Amino acid sequence: MSEKYLITSALPYVNNQLHIGHLIGCLLPSDVYARFCRAMGRDVLYIGGSDEHGTTSEIGATRENMPVEEYVEKYRAKHLDAVRDFKLSFNLYGRTHTAQHEKLMHELFNRLDSLGMIEEKASMQPYSVNEKKFLADRYVIGTCPFCGYEKAYGNECEKCGASLDPSDLKNPHSAIDPSSPVEMRETKHLYFRLSKMQDKLRAWINSRQGWPKTAIKIANKWLDEGLHDNPITRDLKWGISVNKPGYENKVFYVWFDAPWGYVSISQIATPDWASWWKNPDCHYTQFMAKDNVSFHSVFFPAQELAMDDNWKTVDVLKGQNFLNFNGAKISKSTGNGIFLDEALSIAPSDCWRYALLASAPETDDTDFTMTRFAEIVNKDLNGLLGNFVSRVCKLSAKNFGDVVPNAGARDAELDGRINEKLAELTSALEACEFRKTITALRDIYGIANEYMTLKEPWTLVKNGDMDGAAAVLNECFQMIDLFARVSAPIIPDAAEKIKNIFAGEHDLSWPREYEHRIANGEKFTVPENLFNRIELDKE
Ligand code: MF3
Ligand code: ZN
Repeated sequence: MSEKYLITSALPYVNNQLHIGHLIGCLLPSDVYARFCRAMGRDVLYIGGSDEHGTTSEIGATRENMPVEEYVEKYRAKHLDAVRDFKLSFNLYGRTHTAQHEKLMHELFNRLDSLGMIEEKASMQPYSVNEKKFLADRYVIGTCPFCGYEKAYGNECEKCGASLDPSDLKNPHSAIDPSSPVEMRETKHLYFRLSKMQDKLRAWINSRQGWPKTAIKIANKWLDEGLHDNPITRDLKWGISVNKPGYENKVFYVWFDAPWGYVSISQIATPDWASWWKNPDCHYTQFMAKDNVSFHSVFFPAQELAMDDNWKTVDVLKGQNFLNFNGAKISKSTGNGIFLDEALSIAPSDCWRYALLASAPETDDTDFTMTRFAEIVNKDLNGLLGNFVSRVCKLSAKNFGDVVPNAGARDAELDGRINEKLAELTSALEACEFRKTITALRDIYGIANEYMTLKEPWTLVKNGDMDGAAAVLNECFQMIDLFARVSAPIIPDAAEKIKNIFAGEHDLSWPREYEHRIANGEKFTVPENLFNRIELDKE
């Protein structure tokens, strides 16, 4: 039986169009890894979806003046388009507002409650006097005690970055009804007793391997500061209902239900879900940006471990740093960045996939620019890959017709060089190190180009050495077949086109070493240009 690989990508909130930061933060790395694992013959369950709850959806819907359900549907449709257009190969791109998810959350809550892991506590919460209800943090607006900004939220001031408690605000009022004053009143909430998990969690984190430094640092910071019990209910309407009497006007906190979306979406994706989620031998990798790391390294695994029900916890947590654009944060409100609907009007998805992975913010926040994008596409994809394929096909067609010319003896030196790079490429993918992946891939394209420049098959033709020219071109065709296989996880569309150059049936399985799979005399067709150059308008 083949090995089980569970791969998840953080579930983006459905309150905006996705941008290149989402793509490189979690969607793309997870997709490349899933494609690589499948090509290795592993049994992959690759799960993503929409995180539909939380105040961001409720507030967004109010702002756009539509019911939350409709608002969520509107943005989910855009996200689904992006998943399709960027060739993200999820087994299922699900969502968290489903009956299955609610059922799961109710069961899990009961389980934690029965184990004594839930505690009810009274606390002072902001209450909107005119609206006659308690308000979640972001629904309270007031003056920041630190910088005097008048539109600070109950949980943070966006002006000075201070994190706040609603009771810190001066002149607090409701975001929805600004005429309504807000006062602190007592109400009850349910808490997850995270503090009880300190030792178990520390041991668990110490047993993890292959996490990026940033992720380890964030997890340890939480543990070092000491874990506190966490409220898991909120005074909202939109969300997962709380299955406990007295909580009819509250819902579960979005970060309590969202990570479990990985499970409920898996349950909808396959009846066999437990063979990943309840299997200690399964290999589980999560992808996310660093602002999600604490929830995935502390909050979520603490719940899984507390239940003692054999839930699969993450083995490798890939927390990426942030991608900036033109030196500033990507943001819809400032308009800085490239949003996924407009990206495709600039270049096809393969170009974005390759160039973003080449710029992955793996060790630090990284700046991305259109100049950088054009450089990478023009040099690597149009130059090293596209031109090579097209030159080989054209030169061969002109001199030997539409069949692959006969092979000569194998070139041990070339084989050695390629195999060395192939091993580097394979281990970079295995470790989910995408900059190294692109470097190794580019090196393989480079070796092929050098080979052709050195052997000059056109000179051999001119000198009448047709067997010599045939042997060189045959070698080049074998390398083109190799390109299709090793490029497929990164640039799946181009890989498919390259594969289709040959008339024979060739799969895109991952090569353990450089093989010659193309037969002498196999028919081929000269492909259309694989990549166009990107010309940026000079302003
Ligand atoms: N919705 C969150 C965000 O966009 C990510 C949730 S990841 C999950 O930051 F695991 F909780 F689903
Ligand atoms: Zn402030």
